[in-house]
Amino acid sequence: MMHSFVKYPLLPSLLLSCIVFSLLCSAKMVTVGDICSKHPNPNSCDKILNTIPGISEGADINSLSSYLINEAHVNAFDSLTLIHNIIANSTNTQFKLRYGSCSLDYNDVLECLTQAKESFSSKNFSAMKSNGAVVVKDAQDCDTKAYDSPQLRLNNQDLVDTAIIITILADFLAGKY
Ligand SMILES: *[C@@H]1O[C@H](CO)[C@@H](O)[C@H](O)[C@H]1NC(C)=O
Ligand SMILES: *[C@@H]1O[C@H](CO)[C@@H](O)[C@H](O)[C@H]1NC(C)=O
Repeated sequence: MMHSFVKYPLLPSLLLSCIVFSLLCSAKMVTVGDICSKHPNPNSCDKILNTIPGISEGADINSLSSYLINEAHVNAFDSLTLIHNIIANSTNTQFKLRYGSCSLDYNDVLECLTQAKESFSSKNFSAMKSNGAVVVKDAQDCDTKAYDSPQLRLNNQDLVDTAIIITILADFLAGKY
């Protein structure tokens, strides 16, 4: 139910309104290059950000942060559903344990992303950054156990790269760049 609005429709208008009404927004604009040059995996960073309509004009850091946290949350929820299906479809105990451990990682991911959203809203950008960093750790932890699910491994990698972008945006918001 939560899924539909976060995917795309809202963002272009947010980005655009900040371009048009830049005085009202006192917009801190960033480009994909500003962000991805600070990312350990710049190509994946480019790929993630360039799927966002209108991003080539530059993005308002606030709108982009809010959008990416929401998108990460939606995708993490989908990954958790995938993990539950994997567990339900297997009869192997070791296998169930491994993916059970992944589901705990992803419960923590969802919690951290909820906190990241709150930290962002309350302008506690150092907390937002550490929430993002915990998401990276959780996804990497799951990845060590998910070696026989190519789909989950792709999701983990995407989440790691997205959460790193969130930590970079937190640094921008905190005025570090
Ligand atoms: C698990 O089984 C269900 C129902 O048989 C199927 O729809 C789903 O694709 C399976 N999921 C995985 C991850 O194998
Ligand atoms: C920011 O969040 C952290 C972690 O929740 C908390 O310890 C700290 O007091 C908060 N800082 C401010 C200024 O609210």
